[in-house]
Amino acid sequence: MKITLRLITALILAITAVAGVFSYFTVQTEKTRLTAELEHRAWLLAEGLKESVGPLVLKGQSKKLDSIMEKISKDKKIIGVAVYDVTGKPVAVSKDLSAILPVKLNILFEEFKGDEGKGAYEKVTSKQNYLYAVPTYDDEGARTGTVVIFSDASYIDEYIFDIWRRNFLRILANALIISVITLLVIRWSIVGPIARMSEWMGNLRKGKFDEIFKMPKEDLFTPISKEISSLAKSLAVAHARAEEEAMLRQHAEAIWTAERLKGHVRAKLGDKNLIVVSNREPFMHIRSGKFIECISPASGLVTALDPILKACGGLWVAHGSGNADRDVVDRHNIIRVPPENPQYDLKRVWLTQEEEEGYYYGFSNEGLWPLCHIAHTRPVFRMNDWARYQEVNLKFSRSLEEAIENETYIFIQDYHFAILPRIIKERHPDAKIALFWHIPWPNPEAFGICPWRREILHGMLGADIIGFHTQFHCNNFLETADRNLECHTDWENFSITKKEHTTYVKPFPISVDFTHPPFNIEIKNKEELFKELGVKGTFLGVGVDRLDYTKGILERFRAVERFIEKYSEYRGLFTFVQIGAPSREHIKSYHEFAGRVKAEADRINWRFQSGNWRPIVFLHRHFSHAEIEPYYRHADLCMVTSLHDGMNLVAKEFVVSREDERGVLILSTFTGASRELRDALLVNPYDIEQMADMIRAAIEMEPEEQKLRMKRMRAVVRENNIYKWAADIITELTHIRHA
Ligand code: G6P
Repeated sequence: MKITLRLITALILAITAVAGVFSYFTVQTEKTRLTAELEHRAWLLAEGLKESVGPLVLKGQSKKLDSIMEKISKDKKIIGVAVYDVTGKPVAVSKDLSAILPVKLNILFEEFKGDEGKGAYEKVTSKQNYLYAVPTYDDEGARTGTVVIFSDASYIDEYIFDIWRRNFLRILANALIISVITLLVIRWSIVGPIARMSEWMGNLRKGKFDEIFKMPKEDLFTPISKEISSLAKSLAVAHARAEEEAMLRQHAEAIWTAERLKGHVRAKLGDKNLIVVSNREPFMHIRSGKFIECISPASGLVTALDPILKACGGLWVAHGSGNADRDVVDRHNIIRVPPENPQYDLKRVWLTQEEEEGYYYGFSNEGLWPLCHIAHTRPVFRMNDWARYQEVNLKFSRSLEEAIENETYIFIQDYHFAILPRIIKERHPDAKIALFWHIPWPNPEAFGICPWRREILHGMLGADIIGFHTQFHCNNFLETADRNLECHTDWENFSITKKEHTTYVKPFPISVDFTHPPFNIEIKNKEELFKELGVKGTFLGVGVDRLDYTKGILERFRAVERFIEKYSEYRGLFTFVQIGAPSREHIKSYHEFAGRVKAEADRINWRFQSGNWRPIVFLHRHFSHAEIEPYYRHADLCMVTSLHDGMNLVAKEFVVSREDERGVLILSTFTGASRELRDALLVNPYDIEQMADMIRAAIEMEPEEQKLRMKRMRAVVRENNIYKWAADIITELTHIRHA
């Protein structure tokens, strides 16, 4: 209240001062203008009169003189006219003046220069008068007397007074309006928002964390509310984790959590650094109009590693691929992330267009990716791409150089860096290096077509540990190394020794974080989801993938088509939503694949759609985790039908999202995930008939069975979560003893 009063008083004083100064100047100007006008009028009259009156003065009062004066005194602003002889005695006086004259007038005795007149203010009547006197002369030029014009000057004062009065009333009205407006603005924009914010914060304090996303949207407080919101989110996560830990302690279960991993890593690594290297960065800065947006790219690898770095801190080195990435890093190319609650360093490595072309699009994704996936897309091996690939691996090793100290732990990700372990090992023999291969490893015959297979294997064996998702891929790798290199393969310990350096090859099935982050989900049920999509439907199926030819999306669509054809009672009832994040679109096979997916969806929709219903909705854009969440939560079934996949984390994310223990997972047997999620409906994605039947089985599955299966799958993911994966690898790495 005090502030309001102070603000209003200050505003009123300021307005009064400004308005007062303006009024003063207006008054002065008006006064000068009116006086000049009055003087001019009197002068005009007097000048006109002196010619005609001059000769008559000597003759004394006459009818002619009287009538001239009566005519003149009809002017409203003129009180009257008087003619005096040279002695100052009135000769003729207009009627209105006769009652008050003779009065001794000072002006009559002024010195006149020639026939020039003179004006002065004199109080003749009770009012202020303006007198203008002109000397008169006879025909010979002798002075005969004086003509005096009496004007009423009081109207000037009245007018000025009126200006002051009006301005005063205006100031009063302004002050009133300003006070009211200030009060309302303060109430609406400050007092109200503060009250709402404090109520919201109070609710959070009381543990109502579902309120996080109901944060009042108050313009004035946007920067503060952003900070508070991320504080609240951290609080919610900490709260959820604390609850989880407490629950686990109660059940004496040894489940891995972020906290447990943090303690474990610190105990194992001591004061040694942990460096993670990957091609894809966890956060990309993208220019969007005037602003810079921060997005998290669609990548299973990113989904898995981010929680680990959040838990343990450290340095993540990756290719800076966002078009605003350079604008936000420091001079060491480092930025602290995640943006809302920084917990680790992200160091960006810049690549030229040529390097990106050869290393990323070329050798990694047109060569190694199809080579390892064996999904009927031929690998392409170009000499130039291989050269760029080696250069970029070298470039990354240089960017790590500064961060490597004695016995640093380096955790390299994926097929983009097959030769990086060797480069680092040669320079830093005591660095402890793990390489995790997130994609499958083919059999030796399939891998044998790569012209640089020996260099790749040699490069990889610079690592102390090589991890795959499954034992099957480990075996393929051991056999491939055995056949292609001079080395000793130990099938008992699953290791390869080459020139006295031993590399252990082990399975570490990757996973996701089971602690559910708080998402802002506005869509509360399936009906709202259908409404948002503009589709009428009853049963919802969902698929979430990067648009990649290994994901079996076309096969999935054909299964939906067959299902609708075969079980026509589901026409108008079942809709399959495919979220397809654009991926590697500069590569011809990916570009064409995106077109084929769209065309296939169109073809099937054209065949069956009616009214507001469509069998397939294809959403071709990047979706954030929060945007995907409602699809996971409200779907009757989720389809993961990869033709070949190292693990596939979409399957696990779906399971984590189903706190309600409902929903059915249809899962390809060619994914690593199918080894763990045995309660999914397992399918061969090439068998369209089987997949169509599984869609039906999923829709018609009894809730009890859904619950049973989901419960078991959730138990598997809860136990084999991302923290366990990280703990297993890091433990293995710290057990490495260099001779
Ligand atoms: C797979 C790979 C990751 C990669 C991701 C996304 O999951 O194993 O290394 O990050 O696909 O692909 P992108 O080429 O966009 O990074």
